[in-house]
Amino acid sequence: MNPAPNVSDIPVLTIDGPSGSGKGTVSARVAAALDWHLLDSGALYRAAGYAAGVAGLDLSDAEAVARCARAMRVRFRAGSDGAAGRVMVNGHDATDALRTETAAGAASAIAALPEVRAALVDLQLAFRRRPGLVADGRDMGTVIFPDAAFKVFLTASAAERAKRRYKQLKAKGLGITLAGLQREIEVRDRRDATRAVAPLKPADDALVLDTTGIGVEEVVAKILAVVRP
Ligand code: C5P
Repeated sequence: MNPAPNVSDIPVLTIDGPSGSGKGTVSARVAAALDWHLLDSGALYRAAGYAAGVAGLDLSDAEAVARCARAMRVRFRAGSDGAAGRVMVNGHDATDALRTETAAGAASAIAALPEVRAALVDLQLAFRRRPGLVADGRDMGTVIFPDAAFKVFLTASAAERAKRRYKQLKAKGLGITLAGLQREIEVRDRRDATRAVAPLKPADDALVLDTTGIGVEEVVAKILAVVRP
C-alpha cells in the first residue's frame, strides 16, 4: 500500500512584504527558475473583493463577504508567449479589474476581516503541490505556511515602492498620480501592518531583504541562493 501523501514534505518558499517591495515580480521569476507552483495570495484577496462587489455586498459585512469568498471560483490561466496570465473569477475575466488601486483598496479592507481570512485558508493551502510552492503575500511565512523551509521578507523605502507601482500602473495605461499613489500605499500599508489578525510583519525565521536600489535579477539570485545553496 502506498503511504498517504504528506504535504509537509513538499517544500515551500514564502515571499512576504508590502506593496511595491518587488514581491510579485520576484516570486514569479523564482517560481519559474525552480519550476515550482506559484501562489499569488494578494490576487485571491483582490478576487474576493471583486466577487463581493459584483454581488453588491457591503464590504464591511464580514459574514456575507466570507460566504462569498468561500463560494468563489478562481482560475489562473497561464499567459502564452510572454503575455500576462488571466484571472477568471466566477467565470468572468477579472484580470484588468483586479489590477486597479480600487481593487487593491477593497482587498485590503476585506483582508482585515478575520472571517474572510479564514475563508481563504484552504484555497491557499491547496496550492502546495509537488515539486514545490513559492507563496507570495503578507502572511505566508507567519500564518499560512509557518512550517515553510524557506522564508523571505522583502522591503523597500515607501518612496521607492510608490515609484515602482507608479511605473507598473502607468505602463498598463491606468491614470494615476505619483503623489496620490504614495498616499494610497501608505494608507494600505498602515492598515495591513496594524490589523489585529495576520498583520504584515516578517516571520521570526525570515531572511529580510531591503530591495531599495537593488535590481530584480540581484534579488532573484539572492533568494535562489537560499533555496539552492
Ligand atoms: O499583494 P496585493 O497588492 O495584490 O494585495 C492586495 C491586498 O490584499 C493587500 O493590501 C493586503 O491587504 C491583502 N493581502 C493580505 N494577505 C495576503 C495577501 C494580500 O492581507 N497574504
